[in-house]
This record gives sequence, structure tokens and C-alpha cells, in this order.
Amino acid sequence: MKLGVIGFGKRFSGIWRNFQTGDPDHSIAGVVDPDPKLQRAHITDEERASLRRFGSMDALIRQGRPDALYIGTRCDMHTPLAMEAAKYNLPIFLEKPVSHSMEQALALEAAFRNSKCPVLVSFPLRASTLCRKTKELLNQGIVGRVEHVLATNYVAYGWGYFYGPYREYSITQGLFLQKATHDLDYLAYLIGTPIVRVAAMHSLGRVYRDSNTPKDLRDPEAIYYDNIGTPETGMNEDSSSALLEFADGTKGVYTQVFFSKGVTRRGAVLSGTKGLLEFDWYQSQIKSTDYEQPIHSVTTIKSEEDHWGGDPKLVQNFLNMVQNGAPPLSSIQDGLRSVYACLAAKESASTGHFVPVRQVEDF
Ligand SMILES: NC(=O)c1ccc[n+]([C@@H]2O[C@H](COP(=O)([O-])OP(=O)(O)OC[C@H]3O[C@@H](n4cnc5c(N)ncnc54)[C@H](O)[C@@H]3O)[C@@H](O)[C@H]2O)c1
Repeated sequence: MKLGVIGFGKRFSGIWRNFQTGDPDHSIAGVVDPDPKLQRAHITDEERASLRRFGSMDALIRQGRPDALYIGTRCDMHTPLAMEAAKYNLPIFLEKPVSHSMEQALALEAAFRNSKCPVLVSFPLRASTLCRKTKELLNQGIVGRVEHVLATNYVAYGWGYFYGPYREYSITQGLFLQKATHDLDYLAYLIGTPIVRVAAMHSLGRVYRDSNTPKDLRDPEAIYYDNIGTPETGMNEDSSSALLEFADGTKGVYTQVFFSKGVTRRGAVLSGTKGLLEFDWYQSQIKSTDYEQPIHSVTTIKSEEDHWGGDPKLVQNFLNMVQNGAPPLSSIQDGLRSVYACLAAKESASTGHFVPVRQVEDF
């Protein structure tokens, strides 16, 4: 397979390693990226020199003749580039979040409603071995009907959203869209129905802008960059939480914390009518408990692979889409559903009201 790459930064460097393992015969048809040195890419000088560069998507497609496209620019450009790419009907591997505003999401939905172009949205968590095994156990009915979910995400590298390139609020539009898009996606996947209503709260500028912030959470060189924003103009959250209602009536809570330096926790507790199932990616474990009997079972699934096996699985699925017309593990509709839920959370956190989530039927 010949892949055309639009936005060859840090993320694509990791994905490329998985293409190299998953399909030794693949090649890069060409790259569109305004950075002549591809400074963000984690690749060797030899690899960098071997890449054919194009000034536009059109030139890449006409001259490089790729079989498929990968779009891995930063968040603000995913929608306009995916809309441009839709015209060529080539399979697209699209980075998350698929959009960073309601305006973008509505335009993306309209563009793909009339397109035959297959899209895989880059959601490695739902593709990870642990999450797929959890889904299998839920489908077997081991906890009965799921009625409640509690999901947590303690981000050990949360400082990256304030001192690294992701600090730019104008690009991220906050950490529901940047981070929770993964978690709200895997929750909807596990529950099996979309999120329909959200109430959320966030904390802004209390840790990462406050001069009392402990020194080990601060960048000693440039304490606060101009483009980090303020609580008034908008900035990434120190923490944010959402109450979730799913279409089948299941209720839930999701919490993400970005100042828990060194503490890693990401996973969920699903409460069913017969028992409870909990998993955490960092502990590589799924535990289930039966309410009626003192039975606890633990399934350990260790994975040294990127995103706990999610990235190689996505790459394998994309190859299968391109070569055999297989369906995507996470579709453009899934990408949009997650964005609409994140936008509802963002709106709720700033207005204090419950917000209904725009629904996307399959198209
Ligand atoms: N799915 C995941 O698990 C996952 C993980 C990490 C990052 N991401 C997503 O991947 C995206 C990229 O993140 P990153 O850390 O690689 O960023 P990055 O800054 O390292 O890479 C972005 C690249 O896009 C290029 N670029 C900018 N404008 C462009 C344009 N108009 N056309 C073509 N290229 C352009 C930049 O020069 C850069 O090389 C982000 O949106 C992020 O949310 C997803």
C-alpha cells in the first residue's frame, strides 16, 4: 500500500512504525507538511531524506498516486483537510478530534454524508486489547445489563497540555475535545449506545496559572506562555468532569485530572444488574465481581505495544480497509458522535446547564 501523509509530526512517526511492522511492503507515496525539516517527526535523517514532498494535497494525489491518506496535523486542521480529501474517495486514516468546533463538526458531517470515502478515526483506546476484551465480557452478559459507568483519567503527563505545543487553546479548544474524545468514544462503544445528554464542570487556571503552583509543575524558563489563554478567554482545564446519559438510559460519570503528576489511572467501573466489571489500562487488568457469590475474577492483558495494542490494531484495520474493503473499527460517525458529546460537555461547563448531544444516525 502506498500512503499519502498530510501532517508528518510526532503522532504519525509512531503510527508509521506500526505500518512498518504491519505491512513491510507499504511505502510512503509522499508527504504534505509546511515544515521543510519535519522537526516534530521522530525519524532518522536517512528516512527524512527519502520522503517525497508535495506542496498540496492535490499534487500529492496526482503525482504521488497514493492508495490511501493519513491526516495527522494538529486538531484545528483535521476537518478542513478531511473535507478536501473526501473529494478523492481514497480511504482516510483521520486523527482525533475530527473537529474542534460545532461549526467544523456540522460541515464535516455534511461533507461525509454525501461521500463514499471510507474513514478510520484514530481511536486506539477502543481498539486496544483490554477494551475489546471488556466488550466481549459485557456481550457475554457477565454483569447483566449495564446501568452505570464511572470512568477516570488521571493524566500523569498533564503538564504537556500547558507547557508543550498542546497549550494553545485556539488549536485544542480545551481538553474535553483534546483528551476526553477518546474516553467518551470508548464508553459509548462499551455501553453500545451514544451519549445523549451531558452536564459538566471544569476548573481553569487554579493550578497551571496560579503563582502558588508547586515548582515541580511549572516550567522554570517560561512560567506562562501568552497563548495558554486565561479562564476568561478560554484555556485548557486543570481538571474537568461530566455526568453522562446514554441513549438506553445508562448513566455515568467521567473525570479527567491533569495535575496528578506521576499518577496514572485510566479506565472504568461498569455496574450491571448482576455484577461489576472494572478495568484499568495502566494496571493491564479486568476484574469482575458477581453480586450474589463471593467470586472475583481477574483477567490480565499486558501489552507493550503503542496505546496498549490499539495503534497496531488500528493500522491492521486500515490495511484491511484499503486492501479488502473491511469496515473501520471507528467510523467518521463515531468520530462525530464523540466530538458532539465533547462540545456538549464544553458548553455545559461554561453555562452550568444540562446540554443535549446532537445525534448522528449511520449514513
Ligand atoms: N490518536 C491518538 O492517540 C493521538 C495521539 C497523539 C496525538 N494525536 C493527534 O494527532 C495530531 C497531531 O499531533 P502531533 O503531536 O503529531 O503534532 P505535531 O505538531 O508533532 O505534528 C503536526 C504536523 O502537522 C504539520 N502541519 C501543520 N499544518 C499543516 C498543514 N496545513 N498541512 C499539512 N501538515 C501540517 C506540522 O508541521 C507538524 O509536522 C493532533 O491533532 C493530536 O490530537 C492523536
